[in-house]
Amino acid sequence: MVNEEKIQENKLRILGRLSAGLIHEIRNPLSVINLNLDYLKMNREELNPELNDCVDACLESSERIQNLIETFLDFSRKTNTIEDFISVNEVSDRAIDIMLPALRKANISIEKIYLENHSKVKFHPIKMLQVFINLLSNAIEAIESNGKIIVKTFSKSGKEGENFYWEIEDNGSGIEDCNREKIFDDFYTNKEKGTGFGLSVCKMLLDEYKSTLSFESEFGKGTKFTIKFRS
Ligand SMILES: Nc1ncnc2c1ncn2[C@@H]1O[C@H](COP(=O)(O)OP(=O)(O)OP(=O)(O)O)[C@@H](O)[C@H]1O
Ligand SMILES: [Mg+2]
Repeated sequence: MVNEEKIQENKLRILGRLSAGLIHEIRNPLSVINLNLDYLKMNREELNPELNDCVDACLESSERIQNLIETFLDFSRKTNTIEDFISVNEVSDRAIDIMLPALRKANISIEKIYLENHSKVKFHPIKMLQVFINLLSNAIEAIESNGKIIVKTFSKSGKEGENFYWEIEDNGSGIEDCNREKIFDDFYTNKEKGTGFGLSVCKMLLDEYKSTLSFESEFGKGTKFTIKFRS
């Protein structure tokens, strides 16, 4: 193993331990936040409608953090993969709803082109949501102005039969040829506040369900990420 790989492996080991510790520490303050939000919800008649909406939004987000913690703990406990037959269109709608405030803030329009009445795919719903949110976030972050994102679902027949796809296309910065190989690497980011883990996590979650993630990009024009679900 070359020296650089050793350093990288060591970094990952340390990061694993740090994140386990971090998750542990997040759980306690999170339960305090939840208790307080529940208390506010119980007294909702004393709040004006706008504040009630804020409480609901906070509760929904804290539920997402809790689900992420559970997913992390599932992974570290190496438990059996939890899966179900789920509608990709429904999870996709949910991810878009969650990202609506960010889309509005960045003034990005979103178009959905869905294949209706498609058969459901076997996947973990929270993990699928995580993948879609990561890819939506990247698309939003790649756009500077006049943004447009198209989310599509479709099916195509291949060697193994009919395959189902989810695709996201943005008209953002695109990816430079010299960076194409790196984007799935842990820690690779060109953002000031990025961790460079979004796409690695997507790959890891999709691998678990034998699904794949690929992309096409033209620098200066935009990028398209495509998920092919296991048939
Ligand atoms: N839609 C996209 N358009 C242009 N570049 C992209 C797109 N998606 C990913 N990239 C490139 O791939 C890099 C890695 O993405 P990844 O999601 O793994 O990390 P990040 O977005 O930089 O950080 P984090 O996900 O932790 O916020 C990005 O920094 C960016 O350079
Ligand atoms: Mg990202």
